[in-house]
Amino acid sequence: MENFYSADSVNDIEALVDKALKLKTDPFVDQSHKGKTAVLLFFNPSLRTRISTQKAAQNLGMHAITMNANQGWKWEMEDGAVMKFDTSEHIKDAARVISKYADVVGIRAFPGLENRDKDYRDEVMHAFMKYAEVPLVNLESSILHPCQSLADLITIRETQSKKKNKVVLSWAPHPKALPQAVSNSFLDWITKTENELVITHPKGYELNERFTKGCTIEYDQAKAFEGADYIYTKNWSSYEDYGKILNTDESWMISQDKMNLTNNGKFMHCLPVRRNVVVTDEVIDSENSLVFQQAENRVYAAQAAIHSLLSKSI
Ligand code: CP
Repeated sequence: MENFYSADSVNDIEALVDKALKLKTDPFVDQSHKGKTAVLLFFNPSLRTRISTQKAAQNLGMHAITMNANQGWKWEMEDGAVMKFDTSEHIKDAARVISKYADVVGIRAFPGLENRDKDYRDEVMHAFMKYAEVPLVNLESSILHPCQSLADLITIRETQSKKKNKVVLSWAPHPKALPQAVSNSFLDWITKTENELVITHPKGYELNERFTKGCTIEYDQAKAFEGADYIYTKNWSSYEDYGKILNTDESWMISQDKMNLTNNGKFMHCLPVRRNVVVTDEVIDSENSLVFQQAENRVYAAQAAIHSLLSKSI
């Protein structure tokens, strides 16, 4: 693996899940990258990604340096820009400089949700993959969140009672316009497994076809939930009417009544979550909720990804 950008970066997803599960049983077993440095740049807030990735690097015996990238110079993203306005450092220079300090670089850079074409170009990630001399870990870009998705697959593997499960990706209401990255990424990864996938959302919330191609979309949420083994819940803003909230229909909130339609289904969410808006307390605090196991697995997902990048394996 050269970069950890999307599911396509990985040669063998099941082998990466195996590796993460092995690391979970003994997080300090492999110290072959001891003393190396991970530089983690955050243009946006984070609780799980920031702490779990630092912990992952530390488990490997590495140093982790974390920077709030939005508090430094404003970066120029455009090739050939005449930098006489408010940008002070070109991303290609930053990428080369950080490569002198780091063995691996992780970046979080959310979308603006105003210009769809620009967001879907995922400029920060692609610039780093082009100009940095060290591998990249995508810590959530404008359109993808592979560290979360790998943790989600690890969690499904740990809890599944059969190989092929019915997995439902359900939209839920939220008062703020949120990115599509977690949902895109979940589709990117889950569709490369043996599981059956159904997507459910109100009309108008169709995701980018690049991620939904070949997937079943069921606009009746109750029907989608019937017989499901896993309910993966996430809000996202509209892709078609880009970045807009089209409705906040409370009837789409995940409740116990809806979970009762499933095959004793497990509830999943990447967190943070708006309780009693996206999901009721009853569901998220139930025995069938996997949200804290998902959060725990973020460490081993990041650890497996960083180790594979530095070892040039998987
Ligand atoms: N799920 C997730 O990425 O959480 P943070 O935004 O807190 O990192």
